[in-house]
Amino acid sequence: MAATLNGFNPVPSWQHTPKVTVDSGSGALNAATGVLLGPGEAAEGLSPDALASAGFKGQLGQTLVLPRAEGPPVILTGLGENAGTKEIRDAAAAFALAARGHSDLALNLPAGDAQAAVEGVLLARYDYSPLKKSSGTVELHSLTLRVRGEQAELDAKRGTAFASATALARDLANAPPSRLTAARMAECAAEIAGATGLQIEVFDKEALIELGCGGLLGVNAGSADPPRMIRLRYKPEGSEKHLILVGKGVMYDSGGIALKPADAVHATMKNDMSGAGAILAAMSMLSELDCPLAVTGYLMCTDNMPSGTALKMGDVISIHGGKTVEVVNTDAEGRLVMADALVMAVEEKPDAIVDIATLTGACLRTLGPEVAGLLGNNSSLMRQIETAAMATDEPVWQLPLDHRYRDQLDSDIADLKNMGGINAGSITAALFLEEFVGKVPWAHLDIAGTAQNDVASLWRTKGCTGFGARLLLELALTFQGQRS
Ligand code: BES
Ligand code: MN
Ligand code: ZN
Repeated sequence: MAATLNGFNPVPSWQHTPKVTVDSGSGALNAATGVLLGPGEAAEGLSPDALASAGFKGQLGQTLVLPRAEGPPVILTGLGENAGTKEIRDAAAAFALAARGHSDLALNLPAGDAQAAVEGVLLARYDYSPLKKSSGTVELHSLTLRVRGEQAELDAKRGTAFASATALARDLANAPPSRLTAARMAECAAEIAGATGLQIEVFDKEALIELGCGGLLGVNAGSADPPRMIRLRYKPEGSEKHLILVGKGVMYDSGGIALKPADAVHATMKNDMSGAGAILAAMSMLSELDCPLAVTGYLMCTDNMPSGTALKMGDVISIHGGKTVEVVNTDAEGRLVMADALVMAVEEKPDAIVDIATLTGACLRTLGPEVAGLLGNNSSLMRQIETAAMATDEPVWQLPLDHRYRDQLDSDIADLKNMGGINAGSITAALFLEEFVGKVPWAHLDIAGTAQNDVASLWRTKGCTGFGARLLLELALTFQGQRS
């Protein structure tokens, strides 16, 4: 029998991380072995000319499979010219894909960048298959890194943690919406928090009424499934700085009464909780990596459904803290659920707030599926996010938070309305969020485009990408507050 909806466990990758080891010796011959090399380099006793005549020129991602007399092959993998961290991650992924028939891999590495190599291999071999009788893919069991240097062990551990975070974020977003409801998300978060040293508080409908979280409650009004606000805390001893992460956890976005058309974009709306998933995933690795910073995560979880009890166009809701919002479009629901949490976050007086949300189709139109939108009120914080984005190859691009568009959110009957005009939708959405962050340094990541991939390329597998998990983890590990 198929898994029942409620008993479904959407987090298999979190439970089955491949075994990653560092081995400076000659290592296992029973593993398919990758050798990374640039243009003009010789390998395995073959000159650059000999390799070139076999069609291998060392270009980034190019592979040449060399059979051995016995056992699995050696796979030469091109690094291209002047390879850096990004190229090592990409090349490691190309190797893992060329070795897709093998479950035990080894990779010879130049010193440094073991982290990126582990990420490339593990993420390229990610597969979401708990709902298939047989996945048709060979699961990765082990990766042995042949690399020298004292840093290697730590880098490999970081790579494993970063890749596991992304795998968890992918699992959560790939999980079908009737299986991963807001209540089930809270159960998963509790299980993960318990296993990874996080504190968790779950706020149910009653608690949300008590807190006056009219944004989350309003969006949930049409739903048969109750909402959950999930608060995760990581507080290491002696921490001085405090970062708060706020994630959109719309488990499924039908548009509500403003029902979306039954098109291909609507069919991806189970991923509308990708921001919340990225935060849960990133936070699950903070303790493992000894993050010195205190981090709090708010996951704002509900689905957005049409029904006789749903929010209507023209309704006015009241956000935690009392600001009122006229709902002129029930499909602009993400900003409503985020607003409650932003106000809750401000009350804690953190050093910074970063929110992450699949917020606007306009962001997908503007930046496409590879680059996330970045907006905010604090350039130092945004520069730190850009640095983390470069390091993880989860690209972001800043859009202007231009207040000339702010009056588009003026309402005749409430403090604000939840939508501006048809143009600059990503900017007016961010201007809406800004109304709730006061003077706290704040940045907003719009991942509407990057949450989903239609075509696989290297370590970016097809389907839900888990974008943001590694970026946020890197940010937490490198965050410098304002007061330093
Ligand atoms: N979840 C969507 C944003 C989205 C759209 C993500 C397409 C990925 C692909 C969001 O809730 C939404 O529906 N936004 C509306 C806002 C509009 C009504 C102001 C949109 O983008 O159309
Ligand atoms: Mn919507
Ligand atoms: Zn949405």
